Amino acid sequence: MWRATVLTIFPEMFPGPLALSLAGKARASGVWALDAVGIRAYATDKHGTVDDTPAGGGPGMVMKADVLARAIDAAASDVRPRLLMSPRGVPLTQARVAALAKGDGVVLVCGRYEGVDERLIAARRLEEVSIGDYVLSGGEIAALALIDACVRLLPGVMGKEASSAEESFSAGLLEYPQYTRPAVFEGQAIPEALTGGDHAKVRAWRQAEAERLTRERRPDLWAAYQKRRKPPQP
Ligand code: 6GU
Repeated sequence: MWRATVLTIFPEMFPGPLALSLAGKARASGVWALDAVGIRAYATDKHGTVDDTPAGGGPGMVMKADVLARAIDAAASDVRPRLLMSPRGVPLTQARVAALAKGDGVVLVCGRYEGVDERLIAARRLEEVSIGDYVLSGGEIAALALIDACVRLLPGVMGKEASSAEESFSAGLLEYPQYTRPAVFEGQAIPEALTGGDHAKVRAWRQAEAERLTRERRPDLWAAYQKRRKPPQP
């Protein structure tokens, strides 16, 4: 079974939204499992101290290497990849999510954003992963996002509806616009290409729209897509 182990000072945040909908049903039916481990249980003092002031001074607090090491060693000493959720990590991609979903699961360490003692990151070989260029107050919401992205790819979790959006994104394009009844909404009709029953016309319209949206919104994805489609001639 695919297993997510999350190390956090806020274990009450889990499963949170992952108890609902698709992910929740899949967990209830034994497709995947979640353990939320409270890091505070691995503190040694009576206050349950998990952080301390930064060496060299400065604002904020740093998560203690010794406490985190005990938590990791107790809860997650197996072969699964160990990721530290952190805004300075390598950006998470759909390709990485797909690779993680194919494995045995993940161990996710949720840091507070001021940081984690660097020696712990090295000693337990944590790979730092970010979910975007903005700062969350802790790694927990990022961990929920990563798990959700993985779980929906596990065998039997999503039906056919997953595959087309998936294929589009994996091909490097944003998804095309969708419409449903009524035929006219507040004066706007559904595009004519989609209503005539001409499947080739539908396909061409969707491809063109996916390309337009990608060009307008994601010049980075658009450049990579073009490069892949027509590599420079030597
Ligand atoms: Cl993974 N953690 C935190 N704290 N902030 C983030 C993030 C992760 N990814 C983007 N911002």
